[in-house]
Amino acid sequence: MTDKYAVIGHPISHSKSPLIHQAFALQTRQDISYQAIEAPLDGFKSTIERLVSEGYRGCNVTVPFKFEALKLCKQLTGRAQAAQAVNTLFFRDGDILGDNTDGVGLLADIEQNLACKLLFKRVLLLGAGGAAHGVIWQIFNAGATITVANRTLEKAQQMVSEFAPYGTVIASTFEGLEGKSFDVVINATSSSLANELPPLPKGLFKHKSLAYDMMYGKQTPFLKFAAEQGASQCTDGLGMLVEQAAEAFFKWREVRPETAAVIAQLRK
Ligand code: ATR
Repeated sequence: MTDKYAVIGHPISHSKSPLIHQAFALQTRQDISYQAIEAPLDGFKSTIERLVSEGYRGCNVTVPFKFEALKLCKQLTGRAQAAQAVNTLFFRDGDILGDNTDGVGLLADIEQNLACKLLFKRVLLLGAGGAAHGVIWQIFNAGATITVANRTLEKAQQMVSEFAPYGTVIASTFEGLEGKSFDVVINATSSSLANELPPLPKGLFKHKSLAYDMMYGKQTPFLKFAAEQGASQCTDGLGMLVEQAAEAFFKWREVRPETAAVIAQLRK
């Protein structure tokens, strides 16, 4: 029997997740269906209840429901707890388990696809909202030195305070970045959605630095700025999207799909 999966968000029509999971299923010969479902803004819980009652095996969760998904789970993986957000749900015998594959997806794209190892690298993470929370632990676990810069300094300070017992993670305003440079700069703000550039000082990018925008699908003001400022590699978040999907697929199906061909296919 075909196992049913879905991605739930609002809006959802733009989602590439069905294409990605269908490509993975074809490649690994898994008998699954995967559809995009738009839940009403006040109807996430009832949508999940419906999927459970209809025998779905799990689903992905995207904006704006990742925090609500966390609250619904009976059990959470460590990485979902660390992120305080859930993007992957597993349904079994009426129970819901929540995981978060965003951080692993970002790391796989940066370290494997882009061949940029983060150990001892100076990483600047822009933003202190949900997207930044979802990935900061994996960047830290990779051995990077992290600065978190945010428009609202208090949110960056709160975010870095979690790391106090384990190492130095610094909070900064955008002005406070003046005169500093980094090996990797990751844009996890939602500025690209509004076609805006965070107020970044010049000189942030070192000679061989990587600029990474977690948004995908277009040349963002951040990537344009980074290229003008001499970043040697500028990339959007398409690879992360495919890698987070691959990790979810692996957890659901116990078979790891190849991602390179799927990323290349979507880039076309
Ligand atoms: P998401 O889930 O996409 O991270 P969020 O939790 O609302 O969304 O967080 C949005 C992040 O982008 C925040 O860090 C926000 O900064 P503030 O905390 O100061 O609000 C940041 N952000 C949004 N628009 C921005 C802009 N134009 N310039 C700089 N930062 C911006």
